[in-house]
Amino acid sequence: MSLKHKLLRKKPIPVLHGGEVRSSLKKQLGAMDLIVLGVGSIVGTGIFVLTGVTAATHAGPGLILSFILAGIVCVFCALCYAEFASTVPVSGSAYTYSYSTFGEGAAWILGWDLILEYGFASALVASSWSGYIQGILSGFGIHLPKAISSAFNPAAGTYIDIPAILIALTIAWIISRGAKESTRLNTFMVYLKVSVVLLFIVVGAFFVKPDNWTPFMPFGFEGVVTGAAIAFLAYVGFDVIATAAEEVKQPQKNLPIGIIGSLVIVSILYVAVTAVLTGLVPYNLLNVKDPVAFALLYIQQDWMSYFISLGAVAGLTTVLMGVMYGQSRLLYSLGRDGLLPKKMSSVDPKTQSPKFSTWVTGIAVALFSGLVPLGHLADLTSIGTLFAFISVSLGIIVLRKTHPDLKRTFRVPFVPWLPLIAAISCVYLLTTLQTITWIGFIIWLLIGVIIYAAYGYRNSRLGKNELGDAE
Ligand code: ALA
Repeated sequence: MSLKHKLLRKKPIPVLHGGEVRSSLKKQLGAMDLIVLGVGSIVGTGIFVLTGVTAATHAGPGLILSFILAGIVCVFCALCYAEFASTVPVSGSAYTYSYSTFGEGAAWILGWDLILEYGFASALVASSWSGYIQGILSGFGIHLPKAISSAFNPAAGTYIDIPAILIALTIAWIISRGAKESTRLNTFMVYLKVSVVLLFIVVGAFFVKPDNWTPFMPFGFEGVVTGAAIAFLAYVGFDVIATAAEEVKQPQKNLPIGIIGSLVIVSILYVAVTAVLTGLVPYNLLNVKDPVAFALLYIQQDWMSYFISLGAVAGLTTVLMGVMYGQSRLLYSLGRDGLLPKKMSSVDPKTQSPKFSTWVTGIAVALFSGLVPLGHLADLTSIGTLFAFISVSLGIIVLRKTHPDLKRTFRVPFVPWLPLIAAISCVYLLTTLQTITWIGFIIWLLIGVIIYAAYGYRNSRLGKNELGDAE
């Protein structure tokens, strides 16, 4: 087989049995579980941390518009995810979809890209979690020794972020106990975080001063678009729902409901929060790490500010749970296909969950968030996500051409236009990211190419004709 043929070899679309794919993972999640998983995986660092600096330095009150723009692009991409999920309900999400549409080479690159997206998002959220929990503890007069309070930065006297390491390992332990177990705790915290966000919107609305909304776009429309590229990170997580495909009951019906439902709820919450936030505080004062709690202190609602911090900790915990869950299922799929060592796809007989890939995820996130100062590398999450979204959107157009008769419970309207607009918008947002982000991304992809050449290329189960119809 020539190199070209190997790179383009495609996985057949899996055969469905009663609308489901045969799989060794346990099917236990319904539509509501998925919406909770979605909202849980989405609302976190983006809204609780990044809104402040983005309003102060890029978008001003126009941040509301940034969130609307990013939300629209995400809804378009989510529709494409939903069609794929209703057609190919298999673990691994965008990676699996591109294996069936673009072939193994592109699928590996996308899988590798998603490892970056989920890995960076998790590490970023774990370190935000550490920041918020230390804020709460200091309210009680408890201060951690400086050396263990943040990632390696000897100049600032910090060496290791112990709270970030502890939360990453704790979450890996919870996820390793099985999907339903993790959704129970998740559900409680998701309700807590949504209640806190609603409380902020309702109470805050009474204190809004419309004068704070002018000038609306102090940095021009360009600032609003940059804001949208950053706000994008706030929506990352709905794609995690698609990675759960094999653990979902009636996936063809429930996956689209879960994906679109959670995204619509989150978009409404985000636009309301940014409107209230920029109405409460003049935008130039918002350059703080905990803008939502800060806004309440600003209007002297100190008791509520404390509540918000608690909600943020719960919220960041569920995001970490969702994204690390997605990462473990992705590694599971890559291992099952032979593109990573087979051990990644081993399933614990008792919990029917992929324990090994869960612990690999947990330990990697712990080391990364505990030791590496993330700073501007956070944008790597956005670049990784945008790439995945482009591939899924274009994949819909390809799949409609190559498999027109496939059963689709959910169909994206206006194909090819809507997926094309989604892909072009993502490309546009990509152009607003900094050169350093691009360099980091290209280095990551080159490492991926080397790993594929050294391992996946030879060990691919598709290449060895080992795949059954269940996969
Ligand atoms: N959407 C996730 C967050 O904002 C990544 O934390």
